[in-house]
Amino acid sequence: MDYKFSSLLDYVQPSPVAELLSLGADKSLISFGGGFPDSSLFPIEAISEAFVHAIHSQPDLSLQYSVIEGIPSLRQKVADRARATAGFDCRMEQVMLTQGGTQALDLVSSLLLERGDTVICENPTYMGAMGPFDLRGCRYVGVEMDDEGMDVDRLEAALKAHPEAKLIYTIPDFQNPTGVTLSTERRRRVVELANR
Ligand SMILES: Cc1ncc(COP(=O)(O)O)c(C=O)c1O
Repeated sequence: MDYKFSSLLDYVQPSPVAELLSLGADKSLISFGGGFPDSSLFPIEAISEAFVHAIHSQPDLSLQYSVIEGIPSLRQKVADRARATAGFDCRMEQVMLTQGGTQALDLVSSLLLERGDTVICENPTYMGAMGPFDLRGCRYVGVEMDDEGMDVDRLEAALKAHPEAKLIYTIPDFQNPTGVTLSTERRRRVVELANR
């Protein structure tokens, strides 16, 4: 059967994450490929208690449709936490809840990226992020890392060489796959370069 798939899929490769997850599901293998936590450490009791409590005490809030940005009381808590821990003036109206990191990447890509745009990312980077970027036929410019994270001098050089770049995709905490955390000084440089 000759399906008429969208031309948006022209650039999309088979997902390496799907392959890793299918290997991880094979109980006869101990997979070191994906970041699988040890399932014996899952806090089963605490999670089930929390679910039962939430559904019984606030059934409407738990199961009913809500505003698109997510339940306001939870967004308020996220904003309070960002203010208290990260020290910037974050308001509830600036917080949007998503189903996870991948949905957030997809929304940001829809907001910012045109077909064929250039994305600057760490080399190596999280392969799952390539899904939303590939869908838009993005070109990648990789910036080398060391044990303090992305090399910001090379980032500056990459921005000069690719002034058309639309997005710097960086994973500053416990980078995937290296596990490296970007130093405070370098974070400031990244923000400064992005602003420039
Ligand atoms: C950097 C990074 N972003 C996003 C994800 C996927 O997040 P989610 O399952 O919340 O979409 C992962 C998963 O390993 C990740 O390492």
